[in-house]
Amino acid sequence: MNEDLLYLRPNIQVEPLFDYWYAWPHLIPPATAARNLTERHIKIMDSYINAPQVHANAVKNPKLLGGPFIDYGGKRIDEIRNLREQTKRMRPHLIELSNAIASLDDILRTQAKGLSLQPLYNMVPDILKGYVELVYDLNHNASFRIIEPLLYRSRYYDRSAQSLMLSVLTGDDRPFVLSTPRLESDSLFHLQAPFEHEVVDELFRLKTVPRRWGEIKEMLEAPEASERLVHSFLTPEPSPPYSPYRGSGMRWRYFGHACILLETSNLSMLFDPVLSYTYESNISRYTYQDLPDSIDYVVITHNHQDHVLFETLLQIRHRVRNFIVPASSGGFLQDPSLKLILKNIGFRNVIELDQMESLEVENGSITALPFLGEHSDLNVQCKAAHLVRIGNCSLLFAADSCNIEPRLYERLYSEIGDIDVIFLGMECDGAPLSWLYGPLLTRKIERAIDESRRLAGSNCDQAIDLVRRFNSKKAYVYAMGQEPWLGHIMSLKYTDQSRPIIESSRLIQECINHGIHAERLFGKKEVFIEEIN
Ligand SMILES: [Fe+2]
Ligand SMILES: [Fe+2]
Repeated sequence: MNEDLLYLRPNIQVEPLFDYWYAWPHLIPPATAARNLTERHIKIMDSYINAPQVHANAVKNPKLLGGPFIDYGGKRIDEIRNLREQTKRMRPHLIELSNAIASLDDILRTQAKGLSLQPLYNMVPDILKGYVELVYDLNHNASFRIIEPLLYRSRYYDRSAQSLMLSVLTGDDRPFVLSTPRLESDSLFHLQAPFEHEVVDELFRLKTVPRRWGEIKEMLEAPEASERLVHSFLTPEPSPPYSPYRGSGMRWRYFGHACILLETSNLSMLFDPVLSYTYESNISRYTYQDLPDSIDYVVITHNHQDHVLFETLLQIRHRVRNFIVPASSGGFLQDPSLKLILKNIGFRNVIELDQMESLEVENGSITALPFLGEHSDLNVQCKAAHLVRIGNCSLLFAADSCNIEPRLYERLYSEIGDIDVIFLGMECDGAPLSWLYGPLLTRKIERAIDESRRLAGSNCDQAIDLVRRFNSKKAYVYAMGQEPWLGHIMSLKYTDQSRPIIESSRLIQECINHGIHAERLFGKKEVFIEEIN
């Protein structure tokens, strides 16, 4: 091990973890983290310990992809049991918080009948007192709002649960991570640091700025037993230099799913960052190596894990000047503030946009348009379809917006007029309510309710209405979760017979019939727009 200058290899997978579970946005706010800990993590571990073979069989069944099953082939039961016991031992306060939320829900269900809520404050579980406001909607349905900034300052926001797991990745075949905790092994290096820690940025700077082995070892506090492993993550080979766009128009590049980099000669914007590492593959793609050294804006459409991926966001944090996120509803359990999530894990310069609010950028603007649907009819406001104007060119990044109310777009059209290019997701089947939000519900949900309220995007008729409403010249179907490097977070594998594929193919044909350029993006795409003045 000599004293060469070394870089982090481009295929080092770095998984952000929360108590050994793959960290996604609901594992940061104390209230949603507590509910997921008791209602998802502990329940899945209980189930695995009782019937490991059921899990082993279920993960092989494509119909059950993304289900609550641990993917360890029915093995490693003792380790899962240890993790469960360690979780209970280390996080009693989160378990207490989760139970208090359930009790509060129960009190509101049984006691709040439309009369003043003031007497009920006495009944709020003690640990939640001062952290919640009790409220009715105008039909006298009671609920509570969490005073989120205060709860983050309490012992319920426990940074010690956060860490990073490093390993070598050689291909796209990553197992689904949201139902399987990561267990220690000889091929993994566990970096015990909260996400806000400066070592996180220092680690990822190593991809472009080399350092000596001695410094790196010290920075990562690698114990002697891990030295050989950590050294194998490094290389003296620099990454190829990045060529920024220098033309007088605009270039956009599709990185997979909803991730698009848009550049002019003096502006860069990256939408919903979800990036592939760099390794040999027969599917051509852009990777981390295809990012500018400095990104002016990262723009996020909504708070689902395929659009807010910490694994990518943490790796690029040090090179991003501003993060733009949609504003949340202010404390409802199902709609935690994305701004607070990012700030509490060390992101600076997070800007929230309300509906119809614009931010001026170089030679243009970003406007957060309303985004309906795709959230199981829950009151979730943290979602926006971003309209970007650069010069005279307009592009809409609609993500999973579902056109459940075409009148919205009629009204928007009278405000904003034509949109040149539309990017739209069409996951029109969508997972049921409980898949994502189940742990937040404190009463068992009827199957019919669960099945009817889905996380579904637009179908063909809804999509064509949107495209034609804005007289768009180009329509791109994206955010379909089909790139193989997303397998660890997506529970979707489509065939030609899958409805999202049939519906999006129909849309493309309809568009072409009407003289509109249309295609479904997959893997990689580069487009130049020459005229933007
Ligand atoms: Fe979504
Ligand atoms: Fe999505």
